[in-house]
Amino acid sequence: MPAARRAALAVIAGVAAAVLAASLAAGAGTPAPGAAPAGSVSDAAGASAARVVFTEQERARILQYAPLGPLPADPTNALADDPRAAALGQRLFFEARLSPGSFSCASCHVPPHAFTDGKPVSEAIAKGRRRTPSLLNVAYRRWLFWDGRKDSLWSQALSPIENPVEMGGNRLAVVRLLASDAELRGAYEDLFGALPELDDAARFPPAARPAPFGASGATAMDAIGASSATGATVAIPAAGAIDPLAAAWLAMKDEDRLAVDRAFARVGKALEAYERRLVGRGSPFDRFLAELRAGGDGASLPEPAKRGLRLFVGRANCRVCHSGPELSDGEFHDVGIPPGPGAAVDSGRYGGIDELLADSFNARGPHADAPPSPAADKLRGLRRQPEHWGQFKTPSLRNVAVRPPYMHQGQFASLRDVLKFYSTREGALPPGPAQERLLVPLHLTDEETDDLIAFLESLTDAPLDDALLFRPGDPQTPAHHAP
Ligand code: HEC
Ligand code: HEC
Repeated sequence: MPAARRAALAVIAGVAAAVLAASLAAGAGTPAPGAAPAGSVSDAAGASAARVVFTEQERARILQYAPLGPLPADPTNALADDPRAAALGQRLFFEARLSPGSFSCASCHVPPHAFTDGKPVSEAIAKGRRRTPSLLNVAYRRWLFWDGRKDSLWSQALSPIENPVEMGGNRLAVVRLLASDAELRGAYEDLFGALPELDDAARFPPAARPAPFGASGATAMDAIGASSATGATVAIPAAGAIDPLAAAWLAMKDEDRLAVDRAFARVGKALEAYERRLVGRGSPFDRFLAELRAGGDGASLPEPAKRGLRLFVGRANCRVCHSGPELSDGEFHDVGIPPGPGAAVDSGRYGGIDELLADSFNARGPHADAPPSPAADKLRGLRRQPEHWGQFKTPSLRNVAVRPPYMHQGQFASLRDVLKFYSTREGALPPGPAQERLLVPLHLTDEETDDLIAFLESLTDAPLDDALLFRPGDPQTPAHHAP
């Protein structure tokens, strides 16, 4: 939808300009009605003693942060909300046999750590190139990965399994595992019917997968960078490398590849059904919103967090991108974060779009249930543009305080560091053609920084149901990968 997308961007730009103009006016010394007067640090300290009473405009902006609604449907996965599929998915999420290196999804998305790993960039078979995002509320996200190269959870789940630096597995070995393990086989066949017959060794080698185009691993990422820069449409394999798994895949018959792909896609569909249950609730912010919506003044939120919220929806402009129940617009922006130490240039959304369009597991591909669905509409007209270069998905800010480090390569260790960046813009990359113009130094005082942190801390949910945090039937085994 290029027109719709352009319109959406124009709306964002328009909102940004309006917010910016308003904040410049406010900065010129005219406090909004009811706002604490802006001024010296001692003024600010004086203001901190006063109770925050939100203006009508602030209330309206705050009330746009509705609590998470019902899960958005995924018409591309007929079993997305089937409890048996979720049970199989949970089993698979903790299944280290999907990887020859004995890594599972839970090795990086560690359940007790808000489903992330606390590292600047992920590390399994080898070091990856980006930070592991939290999976809490992941079913509410329109695009997946930092560069949006996946459009459904089931399709996303397939790529870490085969990514050479993540789990390093392959789809044929995955289907063989399902076939050979009585429990997995039973659960799969109850849901999806018979697995393909893999006994004919002439048709089905022990292991096979296509050449990894654009998995988030270092090799493939380098290939995306190279192909994006040269305008070529295929990944460039490492010079002289022979990929025996890809050769085995190419040697298979079309219909056999399709049968393996179908079973592999269903592995993703079960994983999605589990991931859809990872929904956080009960944050202090949600409690406050409920009070406000009921006409109260939101007394349960401590004053510093309220002052932080006032900045967030006001002078600091955070709300422009961190909007909606997830505190993310679900879209992509370049906020000018320089790459982490030693990291190569990352094309972000620019590379992600091409990969998504080429993906046979996307919403309009043969493995999507019920195509063409509205989920496929969002692919229509999607085309990479120069302004996509260096854009990354706006992360959700829910639970942000409990899952450092931050940004796509974990460039910042703490929320204080993040806010220092937004406040000073020190070290920001020089603005490219599309870098957000509204990102100007905010010159936050120490107290304002503390207040914003207090607000961000109010976004931490109540703990998830314990039953979701462990391998089913194995509640004693924490979901860590023990190297
Ligand atoms: C080696 C660590 C690692 C493993 C193992 C791993 N992931 Fe991830 N996961 C990541 C990283 C890193 C990203 C972000 C990569 C990027 O954006 O390019 C990510 C992204 C995701 C996302 C997208 C979240 C978002 O907000 O966009 C989902 C969903 C996800 N992983 C689920 C899974 C599932 C399911 C498995 C197992 C099949 C798995 N991951 C295995 C590290 C890992
Ligand atoms: C122009 C859109 C935009 C605005 C305005 C904006 N952000 Fe962000 N924010 C993003 C994007 C995009 C990222 C991820 C950037 C990256 O990794 O390259 C991000 C990342 C973050 C993160 C790190 C989250 C994580 O999981 O890594 C925090 C915290 C954050 N922003 C808070 C704020 C606050 C507070 C404000 C207001 C002072 C703000 N943002 C303003 C778009 C924006």
